[in-house]
Amino acid sequence: MRNEKPLSELVRLRRATDSFAAEPISAGDLEEILRAGLEAPSSYNLQPWRFVVVRDLQQRRKLRAAAMDQQKVEEAPVVIVACGDTLGWREDLAEVIRLGQEHGIGGDAWAQRKRKNVTADLGSHPNISMWVAKQTMIAATTMMWMAEALGYDTGPMEGFDEEEVRMVLGIPRHVRVLFLLAIGRLRGEDGKYPGRVSRARTVFAECYGQPFQFVK
Ligand SMILES: Cc1cc2nc3c(=O)[nH]c(=O)nc-3n(C[C@H](O)[C@H](O)[C@H](O)COP(=O)(O)O)c2cc1C
Repeated sequence: MRNEKPLSELVRLRRATDSFAAEPISAGDLEEILRAGLEAPSSYNLQPWRFVVVRDLQQRRKLRAAAMDQQKVEEAPVVIVACGDTLGWREDLAEVIRLGQEHGIGGDAWAQRKRKNVTADLGSHPNISMWVAKQTMIAATTMMWMAEALGYDTGPMEGFDEEEVRMVLGIPRHVRVLFLLAIGRLRGEDGKYPGRVSRARTVFAECYGQPFQFVK
């Protein structure tokens, strides 16, 4: 039995890793990390996320240059570039409906309703970039936790130039580049816990601004 770390422990101990050793990630573990992310929930199950897995050293070097020269982008054996396809839902809707039917979610009436609702909602969405970002970040975060559970260290990043990353990886214009996740093994000492702002500022009960009473 593999010894996965429990989520409660990871939540307590995970740190954003700044420097990675050259040690590679096994192909099996990388696949498990990716598969975990692909099981994330998404609005209408439309899965607008797209991931570019960057392992090649030359590509990592170019990506580093597009990511504010952050050394961890070159050091980590794997960098997952999380993107959101703003137009993909139009192509994927039929397949998502077919899958739902195949899995017994609903019949023809359900399919018709779903087609109508999705088209009405996303066809005139006021901020489709925000919509793809919501879905994609859940999938990318799931990958982060799975990597940590398998004993790897992770470095989440938004410090990059979107256009430059697009150029390096050949990402089309309608696909937003949202997030980079470096995965590997920590080099040196883990970063220190930087603390969190008061919960009174971030968690409310019943209404915004009304304090939530934490027992502990
Ligand atoms: C969306 C996102 C973007 C981030 N971007 C960067 C980044 O570009 N460079 C970096 O060094 N750290 C980045 N971080 C790491 C944060 O600085 C770090 O998570 C935060 O200071 C809290 O530290 P902790 O993760 O160790 O608890 C990012 C984290 C998140 C979630």
